[in-house]
Amino acid sequence: MSDLQIISVSLGNRSYDIEIGSENLEHIGSFLAAFKPISSVVVVTDENVIHYDYAHQVAESIAETGIDVHLLSVAAGEQSKTVETAATLWETLLEEKIDRKSVLISVGGGVIGDLGGFVAATFARGIRFFQVPTTLLAQVDSSVGGKVGIDLPKAKNMVGAFLQPLGVLIDIKTLQTLPETQYQSGLGEVVKYGVALNAGLFQLLETNIEKINVRDSQILKQIVAECCRIKATIVAEDEFETTGRRVLLNYGHTFAHAFEIQSDFALLHGLAVSIGSICAARLAMRMGFVDEIFLKRQISFHQALGLPTEIPDGIDWLQTIELMRHDKKSEFGKLRFVLPTGLGSCRLVDNVDSQILKHIL
Ligand code: GLY
Repeated sequence: MSDLQIISVSLGNRSYDIEIGSENLEHIGSFLAAFKPISSVVVVTDENVIHYDYAHQVAESIAETGIDVHLLSVAAGEQSKTVETAATLWETLLEEKIDRKSVLISVGGGVIGDLGGFVAATFARGIRFFQVPTTLLAQVDSSVGGKVGIDLPKAKNMVGAFLQPLGVLIDIKTLQTLPETQYQSGLGEVVKYGVALNAGLFQLLETNIEKINVRDSQILKQIVAECCRIKATIVAEDEFETTGRRVLLNYGHTFAHAFEIQSDFALLHGLAVSIGSICAARLAMRMGFVDEIFLKRQISFHQALGLPTEIPDGIDWLQTIELMRHDKKSEFGKLRFVLPTGLGSCRLVDNVDSQILKHIL
């Protein structure tokens, strides 16, 4: 096991550590020891991830510490983030006699993290939760910050809760088995942190494009740690997204959600965020917040990482505007965007005139 990096998320009595390493899955048993007594552990994973043995390694490491472990696997993909899958898991937890001294561990991508967290937040009015994210998107974003939930047929993440985990364990090695589109989807979120929130990260990314494209473990470890650090700071400042700080993590997301819905979710989230970020940069340029040099630099940066920058065929601009008006983050049907104001900085802009959007979409 290589050097471990620990990043703390400071949230008073809900504070926790994110451990980042390589080949450190078997470290989970000792990580969890700090939270004893633990009556049993439920590991939730999906049918893709289970083939790579990550969930088994986690289960074995915990079983070696003498704790009873149950391994549950659900179908892979967004189709499992439903109340029906949650209900199946609730029933299984009941049959396995899971109680409030148990811990549920999600091993997988964003779907498994969100679903497992939602089940942990609701079963027996809440049991303890731990995250082992195995996709880039989950490692840099969804596993950190406590947002858990499921989808409604017409609205992603519409039912959920805030449940901070006991901890997050990230094994960078898991990124080597990730399908290319999933890897790029994660990069869409990584790029967001650099462009909108941290110029230092942007420069690190821009000077390491080749290493990123071949998934060099050292640079990935540095990038994942930096993204987690940025997110941990923002979450500590605005855990429940009430002050306008946490919402800045949604750079590119208002456009992205509208594109994802129109593609019936065939367009992966991070790829939609990549296109949405370019749309937001174009809008920012129209509104005079950034210049054309900024926009061009961002576009060539996305392209060098193989990320999409153009709105896909089949996207209707009127429908996009309607969907954006009713985005989960919008209020009173107003068009609301996180727009860049320079490299590594952004602001929330409310009540954008829909006419200006005609030139973007
Ligand atoms: N993914 C945005 C957030 O966690 O707030």
